[in-house]
Amino acid sequence: MTVQDSTFATLADELKAHTGRFTDKQFDWNAFPSNAGFDELARAQMRYIGAGGSPKVGDTSTLKPDNFTVSLIYKETGKYAACHSHEIEESFLIINGALIVGWERDGEVVEVNLGPKDMILNAREIGHGFRVDGPEPVLMSISVDVGKPLPPVYHYHPKEHPTELARTFGAQPGKTLKFDPKGEHHLQQLMSKYVVRHSELETHWEDAGFTRKIYCGPGGVETDTCRKEMLGIPSRVGVKAFSRDVEDAFLVLDGALTVGWEENGETVEVELGPRDLVKTPAGRKHWFKNNGAEAATVWYIVGSAEPESVTFEAA
Ligand SMILES: [Fe+2]
Repeated sequence: MTVQDSTFATLADELKAHTGRFTDKQFDWNAFPSNAGFDELARAQMRYIGAGGSPKVGDTSTLKPDNFTVSLIYKETGKYAACHSHEIEESFLIINGALIVGWERDGEVVEVNLGPKDMILNAREIGHGFRVDGPEPVLMSISVDVGKPLPPVYHYHPKEHPTELARTFGAQPGKTLKFDPKGEHHLQQLMSKYVVRHSELETHWEDAGFTRKIYCGPGGVETDTCRKEMLGIPSRVGVKAFSRDVEDAFLVLDGALTVGWEENGETVEVELGPRDLVKTPAGRKHWFKNNGAEAATVWYIVGSAEPESVTFEAA
């Protein structure tokens, strides 16, 4: 059992401090110093939990991370992110638009086109970049494990390489392969273990009356860091209080979700709309309910890759 954090006067204050409101936040166009001076790399970041790859770790408007970070990234048509690698795992969940993600090895690149609710987990130490070629800008949610936050190593940054090569993530002409889970190339085979298509993912109906699609963790992409799921919660469906030995976070994609906390018999609630988030610390009793008329779609991250320990009960 946890005791209430003494830095907060009330449980309601503590819940408020663990809520990230889209409208209270601002996109930061200068989150990544390595992009400075390169308009073709422009991207904006909105931080919810931790700094998520940006060195702006002193931002007090973002929640302290335990096992994972959450941020939104916005990128306009024609822009790209230079191919780089890092020793932490990083997931991209597409919210809007179409994003091309490339993985590079030895001058060869495999590119995958991801649409809304698709995800890729960028494996540790694999060279990866991304690009928006379509007519719409891309909004995605990025999560990284907090591991050792070393700066990324750039492989094909336009500082050191011609723009044409940087835009293709380091692929020489004719050296770009399309993503194909049945492809022969080792990079195609590797990437196929890390790409999740929303439409191809099994939908699990919980007895409590909501759906889960498992993106990362047992039943999804193999990982040793965090479980990531998409929940579909029909109108008027909710669950009884549960707790975990790690933190979790709800990021609402569509609809509305009420999240409640309980401590020593006291309860408090907050209603989240699209792009609002609540992070619940380890040990805190919490629940969720959809009080709205439309179904809620929620991105759900749990700070451990262990199999699910909670049995959800309908409220
Ligand atoms: Fe990355």
